[in-house]
This record gives sequence, C-alpha cells and structure tokens, in this order.
Amino acid sequence: MTNKLVVANFKMSMDTSDVNNYLKDIATLDNKNVVICPTSIYLPYFLKKKFEVGLQNVYKEDLGAYTGEISPKQAYSIGVRYVILGHSERRQYFKETNEFVNEKIKACLKNNLKVILCIGETKEERDLLKTKRILKKQIVSCLKDLKSIQNVVIAYEPIWSIGTNITPTNAEIEDAITFIKDVVWELFEAKIKVLYGGSVNENNIKSLNSINNVDGFLVGGASTNYSKFKKIIKEVTE
Ligand code: PGA
Repeated sequence: MTNKLVVANFKMSMDTSDVNNYLKDIATLDNKNVVICPTSIYLPYFLKKKFEVGLQNVYKEDLGAYTGEISPKQAYSIGVRYVILGHSERRQYFKETNEFVNEKIKACLKNNLKVILCIGETKEERDLLKTKRILKKQIVSCLKDLKSIQNVVIAYEPIWSIGTNITPTNAEIEDAITFIKDVVWELFEAKIKVLYGGSVNENNIKSLNSINNVDGFLVGGASTNYSKFKKIIKEVTE
C-alpha cells in the first residue's frame, strides 16, 4: 500500500442511469486514497462509502443569496472532504482567476476541506518556454496569504494534455513536479502532495506511476469507466 491519491473527475459526464451502473461497479471499492468527484447533483449517491468524495468546485461564501452555488460549509456538512479548485475548464469557460481561486481555497480550508488545486500551462505558453513562469505565478497567487498548506494538494495538469491523449514525457512531468515542490518549499517551508493529471489512462498508468516524485493522479475521461479506473487504482495504490 502507498499513500498516493487517485482522484476521479467525472466533470459533467454521466446521466442517472450511468451513475446507477457505476455505483454497482464500485460497490466493493474500499480505499480511502481514492477520491470520487461526481457531478454535484449526484454526489449524495456516493457518500457514506469506503472511499472519499469530492466536489469539482465550490463558492467562496459559507451561506447566502448566491443562486446556483454550493458552499464549502454545506459541502463539509454533507460529508465531502475534498474540493477540486482552479481546474483549467473553470478558468477557461467560467473566467476564474487565480485571485478568485485563492478566495475559494481560503474558504475551503476554513471549513476543513482538503483542496486539490489544479495548475498548468497552455500549449502556447509551453512553446514559448513559459511553463515554469506560469506555474510559479499560479502557485504564488492561488496560495497567497495562506497560513497553512497542510490540506492543499496540487495537481499539475498541462492544459494541452487534458482530454487529448497526449502526455508530456515522464522526464518533463518529473521536472515540473520538482519545480512545483521547490516553489512551495520556498514559500511555506512545507511539503505537499503533487499529482499529475491529463490523459491518464489504464494503458499509460504503469509508466506514469514510475515517475519518481509523483504523489498520485487526477483522472478525467478514464475515471468514468470503472473497468479502466479500477486498473489505475490498482496500479497506483496497491
Ligand atoms: P482527462 O482529464 O483525464 O480526461 O485528460 C483530466 C482532468 O481534466 O482533470
């Protein structure tokens, strides 16, 4: 057994019948290093099981008149323990900034939720050799003024690798993760888990899991098919 985390991000995939089938498939899943983040309306179906449950986003306030939003306080009270924040799809389609993500991280930590902060560069930024500059800016801005980062996990997700079936080389991932850990150490003198995300699947997991400093994976597409996701869990956590 290792301490690596495997996080499933279902995004907005699966309807009710898909969810019911998936629940049958995971009935025997007994692993607290697995975090399932379903679409929020389906979240109650996944609670009170032998794995952890997370949200894909929350708002920054505890309670109030914010139509359509879910608060960290509400999330914690129903049994959620993890929240994905700063995912590139939220940044791209919902115009979330590092500053907004920072406010949401603070709200989550205040409510005892663990945060999975997503950072990563675009293809263009990578081609311009700006990857490290972008990663550092995201880390510095998103973690600004935090007193403790004990409950923060970072997921390195190169945007060009999400849903594309293209991944960086293992050496590139290792280099980025080392850089992220170094920046965090410089800022907080603390160690955190850094996951890799972007086109992780049942075929490449063995190789990706051999990367020296990777502490787990954030899995999108492949997590919605349990036979694939099961292979990933097995490779990483057993
Ligand atoms: P993917 O998504 O595994 O489908 O590339 C990863 C993510 O968006 O977190």
